[in-house]
Amino acid sequence: MFYQPKDGHGLPHNPFKAIVSPRPIAWISSLDSQGRANLAPYSFFNAMADNPPIVVFGSTGGKPDQPQFKDTMSNIRETGEFVVNIVSYDLKDAMNITSGNLPADIDEFETAGLEKAASIMVKPPRVAAAPAALECKLFKFVDLIGENSAMVIGEVVGIHLADSSIVNGLFDVTTYQPLARLGYMDYTSIGDVFSLKRPEQE
Ligand SMILES: Cc1cc2nc3c(=O)[nH]c(=O)nc-3n(C[C@H](O)[C@H](O)[C@H](O)COP(=O)(O)O)c2cc1C
Repeated sequence: MFYQPKDGHGLPHNPFKAIVSPRPIAWISSLDSQGRANLAPYSFFNAMADNPPIVVFGSTGGKPDQPQFKDTMSNIRETGEFVVNIVSYDLKDAMNITSGNLPADIDEFETAGLEKAASIMVKPPRVAAAPAALECKLFKFVDLIGENSAMVIGEVVGIHLADSSIVNGLFDVTTYQPLARLGYMDYTSIGDVFSLKRPEQE
């Protein structure tokens, strides 16, 4: 089949997110201007460069108490700082709880029973149990076409890695099995890893 998104797909559910999958999940912690913590998952997320490291994520839609932008976006626009926490398979249920449509003044760390750890280069706390966390400063806030769609580009200024996941000098994802988003309500986690040599290395 072929369809133009503007005309609709004719399927029971929009296949777009299933096509662009698996997507890593940025579990983003931020603070509002009054210093209240916020935590929410965003899977329109990826790394875009590594020198310096740059990450991007996108938000679509508002919330009942914040029609323009979700809390994460508003906080980052106000404060210029955020942390991308990496979600292990074990943290999937806590991550899911923090995706709830909660009011801006609710601290999702508390709702999900998650311990906070202090960040070093930015003010928002991080998820203590996360296998890795990227402390970020806002580089650019980009309004996208479409209603309430925007993209945050951030520079990673500090990186935390769980010592238990560093095996023989490599950050070994099989020690925590990163969670990734598929389409619909589906997820996967990484347990199998294989290597391919680049053509120049054959
Ligand atoms: C795994 C997962 C991935 C998500 N990815 C996105 C995303 O990329 N963009 C988005 O706008 N919402 C996404 N959501 C929904 C937000 O997490 C949800 O709207 C949340 O309430 C936003 O919280 P906030 O207002 O505290 O930022 C996702 C939800 C889940 C469970």
